[in-house]
Amino acid sequence: MEESKLKWGIIGAGIIAQKMIDALRQNRDSELIAIASKSAEKAAIFAERNRVPISCSYDEIVNNNDIDVIYVATTHNFHFENVKLAMEHGKHVLVEKAFTVNGEEAEELAAIAKGNNLFLMEAIWVRFLPSYKLLKKKLTEGIVGDVKQINITFGRFIPPKYEKRLNDPDLAGGVTLDMGIYPISFICFLLGELPSEVKATSVFSSSGVDMTADYLFKFPSGALASINTSYGLYLNNNATLYGSKGYIDFPDFQEGESFTAHIHNGTNTPEPGILISEKNNSNGFIYQVKEVVRCIRNGETESPVIPHQETIGIMKIMDKIRDQWGFKYPFEE
Ligand SMILES: NC(=O)c1ccc[n+]([C@@H]2O[C@H](COP(=O)([O-])OP(=O)(O)OC[C@H]3O[C@@H](n4cnc5c(N)ncnc54)[C@H](OP(=O)(O)O)[C@@H]3O)[C@@H](O)[C@H]2O)c1
Repeated sequence: MEESKLKWGIIGAGIIAQKMIDALRQNRDSELIAIASKSAEKAAIFAERNRVPISCSYDEIVNNNDIDVIYVATTHNFHFENVKLAMEHGKHVLVEKAFTVNGEEAEELAAIAKGNNLFLMEAIWVRFLPSYKLLKKKLTEGIVGDVKQINITFGRFIPPKYEKRLNDPDLAGGVTLDMGIYPISFICFLLGELPSEVKATSVFSSSGVDMTADYLFKFPSGALASINTSYGLYLNNNATLYGSKGYIDFPDFQEGESFTAHIHNGTNTPEPGILISEKNNSNGFIYQVKEVVRCIRNGETESPVIPHQETIGIMKIMDKIRDQWGFKYPFEE
């Protein structure tokens, strides 16, 4: 017998919600039934434009008994209260990155999910891309030996549509929670560990958030990593992973489908590179939607691909980074 579809609602009628709609429609086990916004007018316009049956308030969406799972697509500052509200009403939740603003909030949400037997996951969608999975598999198989050093650059001039959100301290803007989180998460995913040492420097925007930042990490395995990130500068968006037997070039860091392994077997003469590719769907969100459906159907409260402890650990790394700059958001004071 065919299982009934998971019914989704979205909180926050903004830019990313729009992209999620297409991914939900591509999933045959999912059905989007409601969009909620603080503004009734905005919700109604969004619903009409995207053919979503119900437009409503936050209170109405969490009290709608037909809805199984809520995608929280608001700005970072609201994630904690929106996720908490949804879970207090018995909803499973997929929440946009960054999961919360800090580690303390993350711990509280993970405890609520566990205590109420609800599924909760941070939408680090790139982890679920086939190309990322293949890279992780190749590294685990030892294609370049033990990974010793990683360099990642991830930066771009921010498109005007994101300017307000990224520049605003009240919305928990800044490069670390918005962009730095991706290379940090990528490295922790590939190495399977969290850093034991964290160092960071930054240049702040005139609005008072971190705009350009560099992070240095040391991991328990002895691996080192450096990250350059910025929302005010175009960087070449490249990841290089250096191992004991070779190195990997992973260009187009965020959405790349190909990487090249250069094997040197412990010499200073790498062999010609081996190109390895895996195609990703043009809407990379479809894979995380699939994982949410799989976990909820199996009664799991977290995904093994990005477990709560790792999400919390990554939030705490970003706390450490911001601590080094004495940077708190206005509502954290
Ligand atoms: N995965 C990705 O590739 C990706 C890309 C971009 C963004 N994101 C993440 O998605 C989330 C939303 O980003 P977005 O670009 O979609 O944001 P956005 O369109 O600027 O805003 C999303 C929603 O947040 C609320 N909001 C925004 N500005 C507000 C303000 N000044 N005051 C009160 N509420 C405000 C509104 O909710 P209401 O409709 O309820 O009023 C708005 O609809 C963030 O966590 C971001 O990091 C992810």
